[in-house]
Amino acid sequence: MLVSETTLISEQTAAEAVAAAITAITVATNSAELREARSTFTGEGSTLARMNASLKNVPNDQRAALGKLVGQARGQVNAALAAREAEVLVAEETARLASEAVDVTAVATRWRAGARHPLSLLMDRISDIFTGMGWEVAEGPELENEWFNFDAMNFDEDHPARAMQDTFFIEPLDSHLVLRTHTSPVQIRSLLDRALPVYVIAPGRTFRTDELDATHTPVFHQVEGLAIDKGLTMADLRGTLEHFARAMFGAEAKIRLRPNYFPFTEPSAEMDVWQPNAKGGARWVEWGGCGMVNTNILRAAGIDPDVYQGFAFGMGVERTLQFRNEMNDMRDMVEGDIRFSQQFGMVV
Ligand code: PHE
Repeated sequence: MLVSETTLISEQTAAEAVAAAITAITVATNSAELREARSTFTGEGSTLARMNASLKNVPNDQRAALGKLVGQARGQVNAALAAREAEVLVAEETARLASEAVDVTAVATRWRAGARHPLSLLMDRISDIFTGMGWEVAEGPELENEWFNFDAMNFDEDHPARAMQDTFFIEPLDSHLVLRTHTSPVQIRSLLDRALPVYVIAPGRTFRTDELDATHTPVFHQVEGLAIDKGLTMADLRGTLEHFARAMFGAEAKIRLRPNYFPFTEPSAEMDVWQPNAKGGARWVEWGGCGMVNTNILRAAGIDPDVYQGFAFGMGVERTLQFRNEMNDMRDMVEGDIRFSQQFGMVV
């Protein structure tokens, strides 16, 4: 035992161990491989470690010489490890920096800023006009109870107007939910929510089962107006609409009312607006519906029609935008092309 342990330490064994270690260290290309080489050639069980451990069994007279031999061999291997480690770390750092490099001269693809949709801008503008007169902006849900959309608005169960408005009914049908076909249900909601007098403007999204074409879109917008106060007459309705028309279409705009029928107003009228600045020459265009609030609606909201009267109106926001901007095809409004929106300003 003593002999064999002793003979383990020879110049040749040491030189071979050093050579094998240095070969492995030299070919190691990264710190993981280097760690592996360190453990194989200097760790527990390696030739050099075993030689070192066997020094204690070497006869005293040989210990100094063999100790020096082993020490030098280990020193050479450790030095080679340290040198290679420094190289590998530099290489790894260089590779990392290269992979993370940012080309600050590269032409960046910038996100295109969005723009607010002209319909939203127009609805904001309309709200501003009315809040400027002391009105409030009211809202209602787009997914509406059939009751608010029709029944509360005085449409009979089998009133033809229910069918006239091509309604999206929501399944299951006994949920009695519809996509609101007009903003008029906001009238009754506002009356139930607010104390009198009530002056509200309610712009919002509405839905009917129309095919998308140049003049129809199944998703569109209306703006509803409702005023309930003591002593309101049709003259107040006219004056309000006239002011609204002038704010939309210019100082010389005027309106005219033609008799019509809506279940929730009585009398009811179709309103046309005179557009003095239309491109093809001044003209009358149909703008929306209006009338004095039906006393049935007032009673349903617990309001005494002998004390309070009111008027209501509703017009299409798309039509308003079309007339204001001489647009022929409604599809331009719904396609979502940002270049269309940008022409109207308010880039965000
Ligand atoms: N809600 C009606 C429609 O969509 C418009 C309207 C509103 C008429 C208010 C009178 C009063 O056609």
